[in-house]
Amino acid sequence: MADHQHWLDRWKENRLGFHEAAVNQYLQAHLPRFDLDPGARIFLPLCGKALDMLWLAEQGYEVIGIELSEIALRDFFDENQLDYERIESDRFVVFRSGRIELLQGDFFDLRRDDLDGCALVYDRAALIACAGNNAVAATATLRSARHGRRPARSRRDRRDADRKNHPAAT
Ligand SMILES: C[S@@+](CC[C@H](N)C(=O)[O-])C[C@H]1O[C@@H](n2cnc3c(N)ncnc32)[C@H](O)[C@@H]1O
Repeated sequence: MADHQHWLDRWKENRLGFHEAAVNQYLQAHLPRFDLDPGARIFLPLCGKALDMLWLAEQGYEVIGIELSEIALRDFFDENQLDYERIESDRFVVFRSGRIELLQGDFFDLRRDDLDGCALVYDRAALIACAGNNAVAATATLRSARHGRRPARSRRDRRDADRKNHPAAT
């Protein structure tokens, strides 16, 4: 795929103008609004080697990311001095270290089950990197993951649902 080659070349040639050298300030400022359960699973599509993943794991969350480039994922773990295991599966190569699990492969190969239990999707410069129709397809992929077998809900969602189902109790 031409688009894939574009990104793989950028990682190979270290053309990484999109990469932020610090944790994203908006993530830090706004994450509390989601009122996530401790240890909630957060999905980062097209994750690159974002330091946000490290910060989220340090806050106690489980992180799952997907990224086309193996260079990006190796750099992420090496630059942050994290030991990791690397496991080849049918669709992805899985890199794992503590609370962080990164899939190396194509976002469009994701299946619902891969994102089971995710409470939040954090997109920073991700879907915008999908050109034209791909961006629409990417949104559809996320929607279908969100409505998978075990849709995850935030603590606030669950509270609202309880109030709706048992109005007398609240
Ligand atoms: C603009 S960068 C953003 C990276 C990261 N979210 C960040 O904040 O630094 C887009 C990333 O998406 C990756 N990518 C592009 N197409 C992809 C695909 N189909 N599946 C997985 N990753 C992809 C690229 O390799 C690149 O690292």
